Amino acid sequence: VSDILYKAGNGTLKETSKVTVHGWVRSVRKQKKIAFAQIADGSCDQMIQLVFLDSSIASELKTGVSVRATGDLVITPTRADPCEISISTPIQVIGDYAIPDEAYPLQKKFMTQEFLRREHPAQRFRTRVNANILRLRSLTVSCLSEFFSESGFTQTHPPLITSSDCEGAGEVFSISSSIDNAETKFFGQDSYLTVSTQLHLEALMMGLSRVWTLTPAFRAEESATSRHLSEFWMLEAEVAFTEELEHIMSIVEQMIRFSVRKMKDAGALEQIVKLKEMLEKQKLAVNEGEDDEETVTAAQVITRWNSFIANDQPWMRITYAEAISVLQAAVADRQVEFIHAVEDGESLKSEHEKWLAGNYARGPIFITQYPSHMKPFYMLPTPNTSGQTVECFDLLVPDMGELVGGSLREHDFARLNSAIELSGMDTSALSWYLELRKWGTVPHGGFGMGFERLICYLGGVYNIREAIAFPRWIDHCAC
Ligand code: 4AD
Ligand code: MG
Repeated sequence: VSDILYKAGNGTLKETSKVTVHGWVRSVRKQKKIAFAQIADGSCDQMIQLVFLDSSIASELKTGVSVRATGDLVITPTRADPCEISISTPIQVIGDYAIPDEAYPLQKKFMTQEFLRREHPAQRFRTRVNANILRLRSLTVSCLSEFFSESGFTQTHPPLITSSDCEGAGEVFSISSSIDNAETKFFGQDSYLTVSTQLHLEALMMGLSRVWTLTPAFRAEESATSRHLSEFWMLEAEVAFTEELEHIMSIVEQMIRFSVRKMKDAGALEQIVKLKEMLEKQKLAVNEGEDDEETVTAAQVITRWNSFIANDQPWMRITYAEAISVLQAAVADRQVEFIHAVEDGESLKSEHEKWLAGNYARGPIFITQYPSHMKPFYMLPTPNTSGQTVECFDLLVPDMGELVGGSLREHDFARLNSAIELSGMDTSALSWYLELRKWGTVPHGGFGMGFERLICYLGGVYNIREAIAFPRWIDHCAC
């Protein structure tokens, strides 16, 4: 479909050119003499209209069936779509309904995402909105890849099965096998699905200087929130020979600015806004109140994209200590009331993060130098201090909170050794990691970005479960 529309638009295909289209029937309209069918194939959001001058040719068509149709191109300069196809010979129905008269599951009226996930988890990509999220994911990967290859990074492929819990948060899924019906440690030792590939990425960095990867990550999170999945994709990067946290933050900022601009140039924002407006209309047409999910408006999505790319001013950067003062002052001033009190030395709650980005920065904001007791063992203590804070940052965005987390890494053998011991982690499982600090260690740093969080944010979907094809969360792994 996209190919035909493109070639009809630029004149490569002319009026009366013979064209063949494969796709699914989205809708059929039969009149006495003539009939129309809208065909989609997911290559783009647009459909192609088939026009049957003799409606009897279209008698077999119904919503959902897959077809192959050959006809004559008709250029339609006055309409939104550049062309339609005039059909005069019977078209081929490739796949009819398996059970005749069984109702097509995707209704034309507005269906909530929650309903689609529950009732039709494997059919939902046939809706325009969900197909578009998958295309957005694909475009995002290619724009991010372009950024990294232009910036001298090598894409690498670290393992997903590991022997350690990188973040030390105790959220790992353990692996067991059942060979001969006996629960065994397949690898002869404890093994887990990775929560982050960072440690292996650091090993790869020691050979390649600048590395990145996009992989699944797994976390046994018991809280089922709109920002957490048990299986999600994480983009991680690691950079050698840097002693400045600012360097890592500026890479994150450039990466997002570059990719979002490319995506906007490719028409992705326009497309999302168009679909949001369509959804709004559909929703108005059905009984309001049926939809219990929170929504993101088209205007909000535009603001989000623009806050990433609008001006050349660097995004705001404040320390954790400054963030605490800002939050406490806002509470004292009665600008805001939080559910959780703002306590120095406590981690920022999601409501605090959202306020900092949404109300204080009104856009993305980096919070740096958190107290070391909140953060994993591998972070570099802030130099020339007594080690109360670490050289780390979280990038927060409005409505969502944390999108990216990163830090400089402890690169000194002795200090890392004692940090591992202090953390209470299994030192033998981390000996290979510690050894990276033996021969030619380098100051370095890196970051990890939740890929679905980015998709959620840019795609204007409220719940992270809509940003991935087959979401997994606690008690949910059926499809
Ligand atoms: O902040 P996190 O836990 O950082 C790390 O794992 C580091 N080792 C990354 C690194 O420096 N290489 O996770 C990184 C990002 C978070 O900022 C968040 O966007 C996302 O991963 N994330 C999740 N996304 C969806 N579902 C979850 N359960 C997530 N947990 C983290
Ligand atoms: Mg984090």
